[in-house]
Order: sequence, then C-alpha cells, then structure tokens
Amino acid sequence: MENFALASAKKNLNNAGFLDIDLDVKMDFFEEIQRLKKEKNAVVLAHYYQEPDIQDVADYIGDSLGLAQAAAKTTADMIVFAGVHFMAETAKILNPGKKVVLPDLKAGCSLADSAPAPLFKKFKEEHPDHVVISYINCTAEIKALSDIICTSSNAEKIIESLPEGQPIIFAPDKNLGGYLNKKTGRNMLLWNGACMVHEIFSLEKITRLKVRHPEAKVIAHPECEEAVLKVADFIGSTTQLLKYSQTDSSQAYIVVTESGILHQMQKESPLKTFIPAPPDNNCACNDCPYMKLNTLEKVYLCMEYELPEIIMEENLREAARKPMERMLDISRKAGLIGG
Ligand code: 13P
Ligand code: SF4
Repeated sequence: MENFALASAKKNLNNAGFLDIDLDVKMDFFEEIQRLKKEKNAVVLAHYYQEPDIQDVADYIGDSLGLAQAAAKTTADMIVFAGVHFMAETAKILNPGKKVVLPDLKAGCSLADSAPAPLFKKFKEEHPDHVVISYINCTAEIKALSDIICTSSNAEKIIESLPEGQPIIFAPDKNLGGYLNKKTGRNMLLWNGACMVHEIFSLEKITRLKVRHPEAKVIAHPECEEAVLKVADFIGSTTQLLKYSQTDSSQAYIVVTESGILHQMQKESPLKTFIPAPPDNNCACNDCPYMKLNTLEKVYLCMEYELPEIIMEENLREAARKPMERMLDISRKAGLIGG
C-alpha cells in the first residue's frame, strides 16, 4: 500500500517535475542505485553535462550520438535517462516497448524550446523543395517534421549524404548551422534557434584567460557563437572535445562548453589543467540549468518508483522514429560511434 507521502508526491508530479519525497539522509544512493539496476534490469544513461555523482553511477556516459546509439541497442527493461527531456524522448522513440524514466520532467532545453512545432511546420511548408535536417536537440514533434536527424558528432556526414545542390533547412541551432555551412560549403537555410548556455560565453573573458594562460588551447562546442568559435583551436561535440583533450599534446585547455564535461576530462587526464570558460555574468563556469535539475536523489527516486515516465503517442513516435533511424543508419555506415 502506498503511504500518504508517496501518494501526494505522485499527485504533485506534474507540478513539481519529480517525485518530491523526503529521503533518509543516511541513505547510500550509490548502493541503492546499483541494487535497483539489478533488481529492475535497468540501465542508467548519462550525458557529460550531468553532475559528477550521476556520471560516476551511470552505466554509460556519452554525447547525444553515443547516448542515442546506446539507447538503440540496450537490452535493459528500463532506461533511466540522466539528461534532458529531448534525450529521454529520443530513447523512447527508439524503444516503444521499454519504460523510459527521467529524474526530472522539467529538465528541458532552451534550444529545443526555440523551435515550436506549429511555427516550424509553417516554415517548412514555405520551402517545400527543402530537405529538413534537425539537430537532435529538438522535440519529438520537430523530429516528426524532419527528414534526417543529426548530432554535433555526425552533422557533417549527414549533410554530405545529401547531393550537392539539394536545398536544406537546418534546425533549430543557428550557430551550429552557420558553422556547418562554413565547413561543408553548403548554404543551408537556418532556423533562428540557439542554446542559452553556449550563447552566453564571454569572448572578452575568454580572451583575458588566453592572455593569462598562453599555453592553454581553446576547445569549443559548435553551439557557441561564431565570434567565440573563431578563437578556438579545436571545435567538436562533447565526445570529440574529450577525445581531443586526451590525445592532444598540450597540457592545458580553456573549455568552452557546459562545465559538466570537465569531470571526465580531468578523470581521463589527471595531470592536465582544464579551465572552464566563463559566461557573460558573475559565474566562473557555465552550467546548463536544465541538465543540473537532475540530482543523485532524483535518479534514485525515479528508479525506485519508475516515475516520471516518458509517454508518447504512437503516431508521433513512429513519425519521429524514421528520421532517427536514418541518422543511425548513415552513422553506422560511416563508422561513426558516439562517445
Ligand atoms: P553533444 O553531447 O552531442 O555534444 O551535445 C551537447 C549538448 O548541448 C547537449 O545538450
Ligand atoms: Fe539544451 Fe543547451 Fe542545456 Fe544542451 S546545454 S540541454 S542545448 S540548454
């Protein structure tokens, strides 16, 4: 029988976004999560932007491509997605028969929010000859309106899979789209969306850091604005930035992406120095407020009570699955594996 606290937490789930239940302060969440993984045949998938404790308890840590690939091949009965809503939704799109839970339903994404489906549908209808490539950071509704999905790890290959001269709409990230137009020589029509975390980096503060640390290389995510990308020594997805920091011969890096990635960078290269790039506010490093809604306690709670769960209408899921499968197929053929 449910106790009163659980019953009212369930009732309040949609308002709160997570199961707001008081837990024993002495509970060992690492141990409990491991127990639940076995008991429920559950897998914990975490993005690099999650807090270090969550990364340490995860079965798989990766970028958006790696996480989609891991979700596509898991044999677990329950997928615990420690990331944001569009990522958990992507796992559900690929796994209709599995339970997908997200620690906090309010873990959204400013980039996904910048493309409301009705407006995007109209935009698409105004350009009927265009093929639509959408960055995975979008809602299931936008995926369903797209021809192919891409991530920052495979975007170039996805674009190159289309014939030269094919008109393309790229959505929703104008910064990534602009960067890709330069790299591929295409002239894709860009939706005017952006990520609040990557847009807020301060070029002035990065330049000052470069002066103070002349030995450090600047490594940046392509969701950053063009002016910031211009000063970068290397540009790549989270996995590509991590791999570069492991294999490159420099000893110090100014890291221009969400600060969660520094945990793995430091773990993989303990003798190197990683300096988080500061945003244009009073903070020293840049956190995604959505990614950081997830906590170890919420991971435990969503596993124990199997809530909040991602539920999706079947027609929408099926329409969103096709462009996802196309992306996975092109990536497989190109030998592209996410981290
Ligand atoms: P990647 O992990 O694919 O580089 O994406 C970064 C990001 O912004 C995820 O929300
Ligand atoms: Fe969305 Fe940006 Fe946060 Fe990634 S870092 S989840 S793109 S708001």
